[in-house]
Amino acid sequence: MDDAALIRPQVAALKPYTPGTTVAQAKKAYGLSTFVKLSSNENPLGTSPRALEAIRSLRDLHIYVDDDHAELRERLAAPYGLEARHVMVGHGSNDVVRTLFTTLIAPGDEVVLADPTFSLFAKDTLLFAGVPVKVPLRDGVHDLDAMQRAVTSKTKLVVVVDPNNPTSTRVEEEAFERFVRALPEGVVLLVDQAYREYMPPGSVEAAGYVARRPATIVLRTMSKIYGFASLRFGYALGDPQLLAYAERVRVPFGVSRPAAIAALAALDDRDFLERSVATNEAGKAMLYPAFERLGLQAYPTAANFVALSVPPGTRDPYEEMLRRGVVTRSGAALGMPGRLRITIGSPDQNATLVAALESLVAAAA
Ligand SMILES: Cc1ncc(COP(=O)(O)O)c(C=O)c1O
Repeated sequence: MDDAALIRPQVAALKPYTPGTTVAQAKKAYGLSTFVKLSSNENPLGTSPRALEAIRSLRDLHIYVDDDHAELRERLAAPYGLEARHVMVGHGSNDVVRTLFTTLIAPGDEVVLADPTFSLFAKDTLLFAGVPVKVPLRDGVHDLDAMQRAVTSKTKLVVVVDPNNPTSTRVEEEAFERFVRALPEGVVLLVDQAYREYMPPGSVEAAGYVARRPATIVLRTMSKIYGFASLRFGYALGDPQLLAYAERVRVPFGVSRPAAIAALAALDDRDFLERSVATNEAGKAMLYPAFERLGLQAYPTAANFVALSVPPGTRDPYEEMLRRGVVTRSGAALGMPGRLRITIGSPDQNATLVAALESLVAAAA
């Protein structure tokens, strides 16, 4: 029997997600004993110690978690003057996106997004037979004016990823404010701020728009600064009525007890948050002058990663960096050829990165 005949055409047309190379894969392929993994924008300090401590004392794994997560939702909402009913939780923010698109996207609905941006949004649009309308970035930044012009009567959703992945850039507060004002009220504005905690002062706080503009949904995750990439916890802040529909399709018990308990504990871990931001800032202060010295350009980052140009004539920069013991993400695979996406690491990791780049530049000369 031909299995392909069973598959929905929207699914058959999708390409599988390619995650970053793991250290184990790199070691095997290149025979090196140590690798620096700067490919998935993980926190080089690890996971919030308070979260880890909370998991260690965990019991009752055989009992279903209280899937309401009322206390956690309340805590997540409070900093923005919102309530538990403004929050929907999920198994990472990717899971929340799937729930929202299942709820919102009908065949033919247009979804306006930047190009390139985080690939999940176009993929989930296609999954529900929606139409991604891709608006090219301008100098690595969302072109909000062009995105606004791309809105039609068929537009269901507009996606802003701030900071943007893979370019690491942010939108200006003023430009965002203008954009939001001009957006028709029936169009859902989805803002993914997975890296919000790393953003410099004067950045957009999309959560502040939720109370003001009901059709606004903000995605946040603990994968990045809190170090929950493997533990999995993400959430949406949005209009209670809209989220109540999404709750109808949310997978029950999608947030495990370990994730929920760790998330609550991590919210009290100011020290870890501050150390993580400081480490990232120190990394930026070390790396950007090094890039300049090497003649490489990176967009100004508002996150914990950079989008770095590679020396002209380097044929396969991703492979060349792997050979030098550094796992990055190929920009070519992310819609930004001629660049690599590289996580800002610990001081040691950053030093290894710079040494590898020096060698790359020397080889290209
Ligand atoms: C813009 C953006 N959104 C979401 C995610 C993934 O979030 P989560 O791990 O919460 O599913 C990432 C991770 O790479 C990201 O870069």
